[in-house]
Amino acid sequence: MVKYKIAVIPGDGIGKEVMDATISVLNELNVDFEYAYGEAGDECKDKNGEALPKKTLEIAKNSDACLFGAAGETAADVIVRLRQEMDLFANLRPVKSYPGTNSLFDDLDFMIVRENTEGMYIGDEQYTKDESGNIIGATAKRVITKEASKRICEYAFKYAKDNNRKKVTGVHKANVLKKTDGLFKEVFYEIAKKYESENIEAEDFYVDATAMYLLTRPQSFEVIVTTNLFGDILSDEGAGLVGGLGLIPSANIGENRGLFEPVHGSAPDIAGQGLANPTAMILSAIMMLEYLGEKEAAEKLDEAVLKVLSEGKTVTGDLGGNSSTMEMAEAIKEKIN
Ligand code: NAI
Ligand code: MG
Repeated sequence: MVKYKIAVIPGDGIGKEVMDATISVLNELNVDFEYAYGEAGDECKDKNGEALPKKTLEIAKNSDACLFGAAGETAADVIVRLRQEMDLFANLRPVKSYPGTNSLFDDLDFMIVRENTEGMYIGDEQYTKDESGNIIGATAKRVITKEASKRICEYAFKYAKDNNRKKVTGVHKANVLKKTDGLFKEVFYEIAKKYESENIEAEDFYVDATAMYLLTRPQSFEVIVTTNLFGDILSDEGAGLVGGLGLIPSANIGENRGLFEPVHGSAPDIAGQGLANPTAMILSAIMMLEYLGEKEAAEKLDEAVLKVLSEGKTVTGDLGGNSSTMEMAEAIKEKIN
């Protein structure tokens, strides 16, 4: 059996609690993991002077896959840097209805593929000043390259092909952002052409219309591919459709690296009390299993989570139950066996 080297970065607050729960669940599966723990986040910064020590970065880079919990105020210094340092260009955010949750729809199952490296988030902002040096405004630079657009669109179409999805929707604002999103749209259809023979349909919408369609007919989506900022916003809208932060996983994928993390943060309001819902972190671990090619284990764990959610007996407070993080993890472990 292959032994996978997994970098484990629990971080701060409930990051640690949901990570403990997830590792205990993973250990029930018939997959061989070797865990290497790394420190990062607010507590780590207080202790070591930096939020993401070199040693942690090395552990992450030398792993087959990385599990990340959550950081607190230092989140940008930790997770944004991890994404950059490891060139994790695709951010995958599944929008899937689970039973026993406050999902607005019970029949959603689509994937948002967000470009993770450029666009509005390159961090190039400048103040504009008047003659006396007073700040009178600010500008932000938005960068779209053919290369990054190709890479992300290719990823989305290949994802559709590999996961038996029949349509990819390209989302942009090319009517206003004529050059940047014009380019993105052009590249989207270039890649789409290559997948015509695979019978994967391509369509495109403006981002504002998409925001509405997500509410009026979310069932019509299978795979959405879009630029960085639009993906950030639409994926939070997607999270809202299916019942909140305790349930939403994500993956950050590079050429030969993957980092898997819940969408939520360190939740200081409930940290240290065993109240956190471990589902988002466990579903992130399922995405990791799929990434590693451990399909059977991924399905087994998904079924176990599904059973515990639909029974609704051993679930955390956010789902209307009164079980602790670990009790919910134990229930999932029982369903595995
Ligand atoms: P948050 O996601 O930590 O919490 C928002 C709300 O959702 C809170 O009421 C929290 O109790 C609840 N919640 C979140 N996850 C939950 C779970 N698993 N089970 C039950 N309830 C859950 O976001 P917030 O409050 O905006 O930020 C708190 C800290 O987390 C900040 O320091 C922020 O910088 C950091 N953060 C880190 C992220 C990361 O590491 N990727 C992402 C978002 C925020
Ligand atoms: Mg966001």
